[in-house]
Amino acid sequence: MGALCCRPQVVDFDGDVNLFHFVLLRCVGKGAFGKVRVVQHKQTRELYALKYINKPKCVKMKAVANIIQERRLLEEIDHPFVVNLRYAFQDDENCFFVLDLMLGGDLRFHLERLGSLSEDTVRFYVAEISSALSFLHDKHIMHRDIKPDNILLDEKGHAHLTDFNIAVHYSERRMLTGVAGSMAYMAPEILSKRGYTYPIDFWSLGVCAYELIFGRRPFRGRTNSALTHSISRDPLRFPENAEEKCSRPGLQALKSLLEREPFKRLSCNPQGEGFDEIKRHPWFSCIDWDTLGRKEGLSPFVPDGKKANFDASHELEELLLEDNPLKAKARKNRDINDLSVEMRQMEEQFTNYDFRAMNRRSYYPHNQQTVSTVTATSSSGQVTSRPVTPGINGDVDQITDAGMLDRDTPPVPEEEAKFEDAHAVPMTNLMTEKEETYA
Ligand SMILES: Nc1ncnc2c1ncn2[C@@H]1O[C@H](COP(=O)(O)OP(=O)(O)O)[C@@H](O)[C@H]1O
Ligand SMILES: [Mg+2]
Repeated sequence: MGALCCRPQVVDFDGDVNLFHFVLLRCVGKGAFGKVRVVQHKQTRELYALKYINKPKCVKMKAVANIIQERRLLEEIDHPFVVNLRYAFQDDENCFFVLDLMLGGDLRFHLERLGSLSEDTVRFYVAEISSALSFLHDKHIMHRDIKPDNILLDEKGHAHLTDFNIAVHYSERRMLTGVAGSMAYMAPEILSKRGYTYPIDFWSLGVCAYELIFGRRPFRGRTNSALTHSISRDPLRFPENAEEKCSRPGLQALKSLLEREPFKRLSCNPQGEGFDEIKRHPWFSCIDWDTLGRKEGLSPFVPDGKKANFDASHELEELLLEDNPLKAKARKNRDINDLSVEMRQMEEQFTNYDFRAMNRRSYYPHNQQTVSTVTATSSSGQVTSRPVTPGINGDVDQITDAGMLDRDTPPVPEEEAKFEDAHAVPMTNLMTEKEETYA
């Protein structure tokens, strides 16, 4: 008996990637949709973060389109300041993303512990995240959910953007109008429903930078409508002791990011220099952009490698409260026609991805030629490639936009939503029109 139960599972590393290929380690995070834990690839021994989403829960939260969209966008991108996708797969219960592991924790974690961060540190993060945004915007991708929770540090203190759950492709020909994001970080043009594109990400970055430096957000409100009013109308004010915490060029940069007119915002003038405008801003005069781009810049804040830089409650919760702990299970041979429409959609569209065997590609018609040049590179430097099949599945139009809840925040009816220190947006507010139809 004992011999039977302890017999090691034979893992087929030549077959499609699946959960049997990984050793499951501790839980490090939880979001509105997914849980995140550390895993180790049994063959390469590389450590990764595994983000997994329970499929029935995803259907219940009407987030199927978001998960498929997140999976597709992540396949398209590979950047030093993005948490990149390495593998994607599913089993009968969950959809899985295997991502670069960030052991330095998220900026919400550090902000909550430290109260605020130094101007130098924040400038460094803003520079790195601007570089990621410039890359994403070149691909016509807006992130739409930039906030401290979604900026993660590696062991050396480099900042990385994660959580592409509500990111979308945009087109210059048609502005988006769906309200999506985490309300406290939302740009005024989203709330006014006048239509918006990529400048919203720079507004959110401005809110983050302000919050990280001063330990409080620039616009606040106890209710949904009070917060909307504050974001749309309140003059930008700095705390009384602002100049003790931030230099004049720093305050100027915050003002330029928190400019209400989207195309006057820092780096967003359509006739302007784009990312070069940020690079040339006096606040960044001490940044060597070439060094930064090679990820060789020294971070002013290096997370303590001896401590766990995440909330221990995730692991405790998993141990004590999870009645269906994650476990690798073989797939049942179910007839796909017996599945609900949503379960079938996930089955068919949350396709496998393996960065060692596949080139990255875009599902967005305009980007399909450009992505095939990207070469899959593992963190150990191994390079592999396979011919790309661009555009075999141009069904981006099927993906509708949906909203976002902050982590640990269950959907709440609009009238009950409070925004004292949470930054959640009620789901009811966010399930919006179809946004991805490009004629
Ligand atoms: N690659 C990663 N490495 C380490 N921690 C991560 C990683 N990805 C996510 N986390 C942690 O899990 C949290 C939730 O992940 P996220 O992708 O934002 O999920 P959600 O879409 O549910 O918000 C993050 O705020 C972060 O603390
Ligand atoms: Mg998140």
